[in-house]
Amino acid sequence: MIAPHSSSTPARTVRSVRKAVVPAAGLGTRFLPATKATPKEMLPVVDKPAIQYVVEEAAAAGLDDVLMVTGRHKRAIEDHFDSAFELEQALAAKGDAVRLDAVRGPARLADIHHIRQGEPLGLGHAVLCARRHVGDQPFAVLLGDDLIDPRETLLSRMLDVHGRHGGSVVALMAVPPEQIRHYGCAAVEPAGEEDVVRVTGLVEKPSPRDAPSGYAVIGRYVLDPGVFDVLEHTPPGRGGEIQLTDALREPAAGGTVHGVVFDGLRYDTGDRAGYLRAVVRLACARDDLGPEFAAWLKEFAAGLEDGTAPVSRGLAA
Ligand code: G1P
Repeated sequence: MIAPHSSSTPARTVRSVRKAVVPAAGLGTRFLPATKATPKEMLPVVDKPAIQYVVEEAAAAGLDDVLMVTGRHKRAIEDHFDSAFELEQALAAKGDAVRLDAVRGPARLADIHHIRQGEPLGLGHAVLCARRHVGDQPFAVLLGDDLIDPRETLLSRMLDVHGRHGGSVVALMAVPPEQIRHYGCAAVEPAGEEDVVRVTGLVEKPSPRDAPSGYAVIGRYVLDPGVFDVLEHTPPGRGGEIQLTDALREPAAGGTVHGVVFDGLRYDTGDRAGYLRAVVRLACARDDLGPEFAAWLKEFAAGLEDGTAPVSRGLAA
């Protein structure tokens, strides 16, 4: 068994990667009706939209250029990472420095760019849309549905591995067999480091029977720009979509894809239960909200145990 990376693993500072691509064109059908007029990436996790955590993660790893690949109805994302002149003026006039900082923060995280995908042809196609912006440098891809806890340093570790091995690096997580059908799955072999493997093959959303391992690709990638040429000729795969997983199979067979095995805190905010878990855990971790909320949560959970928890008993206060 390969020892997974945790936040205690020190990150080195090898940084040839500056740009991050954040695909954000999905329809968010699992959250309807909330996502009828609001992009799913803008749903709040405590008091920040989910996509802000992703951009903060990129910035924390030293990536100062972020390209959002959006679709129609995603103007709220553009507005969120822009200045909000009237709001800022009103908060400044009131002397509310804390909220003013919160409003200005997102636009200051990185140089943020937006491009539209046009047609929903899949994750591989969304990444291909970034080709002109990215150019011929390696780049990171962060998927908004996978929220990595801000206390983790997964992306830095991946950049470190990329700095030493080159090629492409994917984030992997061991999942139970019945869950592998929701993910890209990697065939792996040891690579001589605790939490690093060589990826020898990839399958998008296999049945447990066909899965080459129990390692799922979670939504963090550091990619060699050569992937664009492969994507140009990658035919539609699973679900009739152009899959990033399929495009990585060729370089994996050539021995140039590594995986960082992660076992830290990750939330699938594309799933309603995962989203709720993210809200609860991140709320508990907050200095301002955590103590009071955690105390209420303990009482609520104890009530669930003995059957006294329902909101009608007044515990919702
Ligand atoms: C995408 C990728 C899949 C990966 C997953 C991680 O799938 O295609 O390989 O494992 O993200 O969240 P999606 O969840 O967008 O269907």
